Formats: sequence, structure tokens, C-alpha cells
Amino acid sequence: MKLSRRAFALSLAAAPAIIRAQQQPLRARIKIDTERVIGDIDPLIYGNFIEHLGRCIDGGVFEESSPLADSNGFRRDVLDAARKMNVTLLRWPGGNFSSNYHWMDGIGPRDRRPPRLEMAWGTVESNRFGTHEFLNYTGMMSTQPYICANLGTGAWTEAQQWVEYCNSSEDTAMTRLRKQNGRQDPWKVVYWGLGNEMDGPWQMGHRSAEDYGKFALEAAKLMKWTDPNLKLIAAGSSNYRPGSDWTSWNRTVLQFLNQHADYLSLHTYVGNPNNDFGDFMASSLELDQRTKTAEGIIDASLSGQPGNRKIYIAWDEWNVWYRARGPQQRGRRILEEHYNLEDALVVATFLNSFVNHAHIVKIANMAQLVNVIAPIFTNEKALFLQTIYYPLQLFANNSKGKALQLYLDGPRYKCARFDDVPYLDASAALDNGSLVINVVNRHRDQAIETAFELEDKQFSGAVAVSEVNGPDIKAENDFDKTTVKTAERSVTASGRALRYTFPPHSFTMLKTKLV
Ligand code: AHR
Repeated sequence: MKLSRRAFALSLAAAPAIIRAQQQPLRARIKIDTERVIGDIDPLIYGNFIEHLGRCIDGGVFEESSPLADSNGFRRDVLDAARKMNVTLLRWPGGNFSSNYHWMDGIGPRDRRPPRLEMAWGTVESNRFGTHEFLNYTGMMSTQPYICANLGTGAWTEAQQWVEYCNSSEDTAMTRLRKQNGRQDPWKVVYWGLGNEMDGPWQMGHRSAEDYGKFALEAAKLMKWTDPNLKLIAAGSSNYRPGSDWTSWNRTVLQFLNQHADYLSLHTYVGNPNNDFGDFMASSLELDQRTKTAEGIIDASLSGQPGNRKIYIAWDEWNVWYRARGPQQRGRRILEEHYNLEDALVVATFLNSFVNHAHIVKIANMAQLVNVIAPIFTNEKALFLQTIYYPLQLFANNSKGKALQLYLDGPRYKCARFDDVPYLDASAALDNGSLVINVVNRHRDQAIETAFELEDKQFSGAVAVSEVNGPDIKAENDFDKTTVKTAERSVTASGRALRYTFPPHSFTMLKTKLV
């Protein structure tokens, strides 16, 4: 390769820095005290989401004509991949779709269900996948169902009757209908959303915070009177665009719902439209800020209130989403993001953030499960696992128990949005003497040699290492190649210290027993 004169001069200028970097690796220190507990990690932070959108349900979860489907029409390969990801909570039917979904369209014999114009994403909804199909599916996945009620174009009674249909043991017209449709026992669905993204002008039935608060309160009363065991999730902020006041939306909504909501739903999607790796990798700092701000608003809404009510945060839509986005996203093959390594690393930093706020973030749902901004991607013949599948799988299967507060001292950088970003992003979980440490190295080129110190325990030998990495930050997977995946190995540690070098652009999970 021939270098231009300018490129040659630049490479000479950079050379001493490169040599210095090779001589002096970056160093960090992480101290761990097992008594410094942030809170219990709720398994429900490893939730996911399926919406009647593009090929998420039709052509993803559910493909009646496929040889890969079982007798109910569920794709067996997708179910298997979803099971391995240990999805703990599955949200349905939307998303924007839920705001004009009338659940009675989706029950009874499949061939008699009415096709309807679907206006959120510009298709026709067949209604062949409805309440029974969803709840059968969550049963097969051994995951908790989370139903988002229609508080856009829906009525209070419609939401109430949906709860009655699913959960009541009384002999009523609704429960007779359920039995007639083949289900004797109530499903006892605990998690119910009070609408979706009601703060967004794009939402069918969008309202002001005050109008939504009043409307949702009446729905919440009827739903909880039907089943007092419900946990209700109020539609908090999703609209962070300039000019929209997301904090005031949450404040107003909670003025109405602070005695009825159990969770405040927040949504966020991030992206790298300017191809700025450092800035993209710092996205979780914004998530941290929003979580802290929302926690303050929740605390304020409950202060001075009688009793000991708690409202937690449900980040019930989150992911990287910026390529397949915009008004042209209408029809069947939409929101089909193809993820790369840097996206997987951002996903790992989001999971770190949820663990590091385990005391207040009790639900999180990656949007979505398959094909639509998703870790699993299908065609008619097969599926492949996107890069973002791997951190999610590692967290959901291992990062449980108590979240620990870490002391982290290491190199930092400045980027477009933030002045002070740590290159290492970490979280830790302690479960019955088993310690899991999750570390993302945000540095694109340099490894970081890290000294772990245990304050009050000892390492006991084998440390299982799982690393998600790839040849470069833009590496992707596809049907015929798995370039980014988890590599497993093992190191040993005894006493109070462990040294580990985190390679550039990597996510590493260390798992070990403490004594
Ligand atoms: O997950 C895709 C869409 O993003 C959902 O339908 C909506 O709630 C959000 O805007």
C-alpha cells in the first residue's frame, strides 16, 4: 500500500504514541466488597418483547405454513433459541400495535377471526395469533407473560374484560367464553401495561399527560378490582426529542397513578448514525442518567403518601435501533436491523446499567425477540443468532442474585456527549457464593490490564471466562457465518487478588466461587 505524503507524516507522528501504548498497557483496578449490595437483581430484567410488527410474530415466532413449525404454528427453531436466552418475561402485543388492538378479534376459531387494517405499521393483521396463542407460547417458553392493554383507541371495559377473560375464576360471560375457546383454568397473568408510549404523537390515541393519567387511572381501578394481584405498568416517557419534556410527562402521570401503578415504563433506543464509536459506546451513561432522574420523580411522587408503596422502573423497550428506522418503515420486512460487534457491546453496557440499578430497575424488555430489531433472525429455512444475542444470553443465564457496588479506578475518555467516560464498564452479581463480574472494554484498540481486589472474601480456584468479541467492531453474523460469538476458557485465582487483561472492544464475563 502506498501512503500519501500527509498520511505518511501522520503515521510518523502517531508512532511514538503507539510504541508508548505498547510499552505501558492501560491499567485499571476494581475493588469488590460482597457486603456492598445495591439490591436484588430481578430476573425480570432479562425480558423480551414480541409485537405484531413486520416479521416478529408472523414469519418469526409463528409461521403456520413452515415445515419448521409445530402443530400450533410456532417455529420450533425460534422457540429453542429463545429458550436458550432464558427470556424471563415476554411483552405482547405491542408496542404501537397495541394502541388499536381489540383483543376479542384474536380469540375463537382461527379461521373465523377478522382480518383488520393495521395502522401502526401499515399491514393487515390476520389475528391468527391472539391471546391463547400468546399464553401457550409463554407457557412453552417457561416465561412470565406481560400483556399491554390498549389505552389508545380501547375502552376501560375492554381492558377490564381482558383481565377477567385471562384471570377470573368466577362463572361469567367472559370466563365461559374462555372455556368455550378451550381454556378451563385462568392463566393468572400478573403483568399488565396501561398502554404504550402514550407520550408520542405517533401513537394511536396519543394524549396529553393529564388526559392519559386520568384515563389510565380509571382503567387501573377496574383492572385491579377484577384481580387485585395484578402488577400494573404505567406508560412513562419514550419521547426524548427536542421540545418534549419527558420529566414532566412522568411527573404528571404519576400524580394520577402513584397509588395504582407498580412500575413506570420507560423506553429508549440508541444508535450510531455518525459512526462515532467512542460516543456510541458511552450511550449507557445516558441510560444511567434517565434511570436516576426517573427514580427521583418516582420518589417525589410517593413522598408524603401514606403506606409503603413502591413503584419500580420497567425499561420495557430498549435496544440499538437506528438503521431500519423512519417513516418508510411500513409493511412486512421492516425494522430488520443487522447487528455488529459494537451493538453487542452497547447491549452489554445496558445490561450492566440495569444490574447497577437493581434496586429500582425491576423489569427490562429488549425490543424485540425475532427479526424486528432482534437477537434472532430467520428466513424460511433457518435462523441465525445476531451479535446482540450473546451478551443477553450470558447475562440472563448467569448474572443473578445480589448486585454489588464496585469501586472502579481506570482510564477514561472524552466524547461528543460526555466529558468523562470510563473505558471499563462493569457490574457484578453475587448468588450463593458464586460471583459474576461483567466487564465491557470500551477501548477500540487497547487492552486494559485489570487488578481485582476482594475486600472480604477469597477466590477459590477456577474462574470461567466467557468473552464476546470479534475481529473488528463492525463484524456481523449472518446465516452462513458466526463471526461474533461467545468464546469460553478458564483461568485460576486464589487469595484476594486476580489480574485479568480485557482485550479491546470486548465484553467479558468472569464467573467464580468465593470462599
Ligand atoms: O419496538 C418498536 C416500536 O418502538 C414499538 O412498537 C414502539 O413502542 C416503539 O416506538
